[in-house]
Amino acid sequence: MGPIGKVVSVRGATITGETLAAESFSVGSFVSVSMHDYRIIGVVTSLEMGEGDVVKFSANLFGRFGAGKFERGTEQLPWPGAPVDIPSEAELDLVFNAYRRYDFAFGDISALEGKKNYIDPDKFFSRHVAVVGATGSGKSCAVASILQKVAKLPGARIILLDLHDEYGEAFGDLAEKLNIGEFELPYWAMNFDEFAETFIDRDDPFARTETVALSEIIVNSKRLKNLPYKDFITVDSPVYFDINDIKVKMQALDTERLQDGKEGPFYGNFTRFVFKFDSRMNDKRFEFLFKPKRFRSTETFSQLIESLFGLKSGKSVVVLNLSNVPPEVINGLVSLLARLVFDFNMWNPYRANVPILLVLEEAHNYLSDHSSSQTARRTIERVVKEGRKYGVSCMIVGQRPLDISESILSQCSNFVALRLSNPDDQAYIAKLVPDSMSDLLDIVPALKQGEGLLLGDACILPLRTKIDAPNPFPRSKDVDFYTKWSILPPAVDVDNVVERWRKINY
Ligand SMILES: Nc1ncnc2c1ncn2[C@@H]1O[C@H](COP(=O)(O)OP(=O)(O)OP(=O)(O)O)[C@@H](O)[C@H]1O
Ligand SMILES: [Mg+2]
Repeated sequence: MGPIGKVVSVRGATITGETLAAESFSVGSFVSVSMHDYRIIGVVTSLEMGEGDVVKFSANLFGRFGAGKFERGTEQLPWPGAPVDIPSEAELDLVFNAYRRYDFAFGDISALEGKKNYIDPDKFFSRHVAVVGATGSGKSCAVASILQKVAKLPGARIILLDLHDEYGEAFGDLAEKLNIGEFELPYWAMNFDEFAETFIDRDDPFARTETVALSEIIVNSKRLKNLPYKDFITVDSPVYFDINDIKVKMQALDTERLQDGKEGPFYGNFTRFVFKFDSRMNDKRFEFLFKPKRFRSTETFSQLIESLFGLKSGKSVVVLNLSNVPPEVINGLVSLLARLVFDFNMWNPYRANVPILLVLEEAHNYLSDHSSSQTARRTIERVVKEGRKYGVSCMIVGQRPLDISESILSQCSNFVALRLSNPDDQAYIAKLVPDSMSDLLDIVPALKQGEGLLLGDACILPLRTKIDAPNPFPRSKDVDFYTKWSILPPAVDVDNVVERWRKINY
C-alpha cells in the first residue's frame, strides 16, 4: 500500500500533514513518516477539515524504526512533502515492547485491551515522580498499586508519609507501621528552622530578635549537654539539649533588669514567645515531640533512625502515619522526616546499595510556594535537587499541582497524571512536561477514575493507562451516599466520636 498522506510543515518535534484517508486517523492513533532508511513515528494530536476531501492533522514525533529496532527520540526530523503511513502491527509491537525486558507495568494501555504499558522501572524510581489528579481521581490507589509491585523486592526501601491513615493495611506484612502521634519524634532532632517555626510567629514584631536569641540559647545548650562534640556542634546538629533551658533563658531576658534598675535590652520583647512556648509545652497533643520518654539523649539518635527507616525490622515499606499529629506542626515534621532520610543517605558511604524512595502524600498541603510555613518546601526542594546523587528519590502526590512549588515539580522526570479538571492545573503541568508531549495532556480532564496518563523518560511514550487495582486497597474508598442513605444506619456512638476528636484537637 502506498502512503496515505504527506507532511506539510515541521516545527520542533511536531508535524502537520494532509491526508485523503481520514478514516485511518484518530486523535491518539499512530503515524509514521518514511525517510531514507528509517521511519519516524508519531502520535496524532489533532484533526481538522481542509479543502475538498483533504483532512489536516498534526502529530508529535517521538521515535524511529530502523534496522528492525525502535529507538526513542527524534534527532532527525522529516521534511515537508515526506510520505506519511500508518505503522504496521509489528512496528507497533516493537514500540510497546521496547521496555518489555523489565516485565514491569502499572497497567494496560487503555486503548489496547490486554496490552501492558511496560516502563523502565530503574528510570521511574530513580528520578523523582509526580502523581497528580483531582480528589477521587485515584492517586492513593495508584500509589498503593505501584508500590505493591516493588514492596516485595527484598531490598526495597520505601518511606511513605501517610497524612490520612490510608495505607496501614495496603502492604500487609511487608510494611512497618509507625503512628507518629504515639511513637516519638524528639524536638532535638529538628534543625533550627523546623524548631523555630513551631514557636515563633512570623508576624510577631519581635520575630527576628526571638530567632537570634533562640538560636544562641539552643547552640549553647547543645554544647553544654554534649561536651565531647562541643567544637563541632552547630544550631542544626541533631544532638540532645534540654528544652526547658529555652523557657528559663527567654523568660530571664524578657524580665531582665540591669544593675541600675533600668530595663534590660530585651525587656518585654519575648512575652509572646514565652506564652506560646508554655502553651505548646502544656498541650498534650505535642507530647510526642516536646516530652520524649524514649529518645532523651544524643545516643538514642541511632535508635530513632533505625525505627523510622525500618532498619531493624527489615521491612521494605515504612508507613509513617501522621494523621494524629497537630496540623500546626505538619510542615515542620514533613521537613524533619524528609531531611532525616536525606541526611542519613548523604552520610551513608554505602548509599548506592540502599536507595530510598520517599513518598509524600497530600503534598499540596505543605509544598506550596504560598503557604505561611515554608520549611517543608525548602527541605523537599533540596532533596529533589540533590537527592539523585545520594540515592534518595521522591514521589510527590497531590491534588492541585498549582499548589506544589514549581521548582519541586520541575525536577520530576516522570508524571502519573490522573483526571485533572481545573484548566489552570492542566496548563501548569503542560508547562512542566517536554514540549512535544504537552498537547497530549488535553485528554487529562477526560480520564476515568483509576486511569492515568503516564509520561516521562521511563515511558516509551505517553499513554493512557488503566492502572491496576491495588490489592489490598488503601483505606480511601469512595462513600456511596445514595446507597448508604437507602438503608437505616446503625446508631452513632457520639461519646466515642467526641473522645477521638478531643484527643486530637484539644
Ligand atoms: N486503579 C484503580 N482501580 C480500581 N479502583 C480505583 C482505582 N483508582 C481509584 N479507584 C477508586 O476510586 C476511589 C478513589 O481513589 P483514591 O482514594 O485513590 O483517590 P485520590 O485521588 O487519592 O483522592 P484524594 O485526593 O481525595 O485523596 C477508590 O476508593 C477506588 O474505589
Ligand atoms: Mg488520596
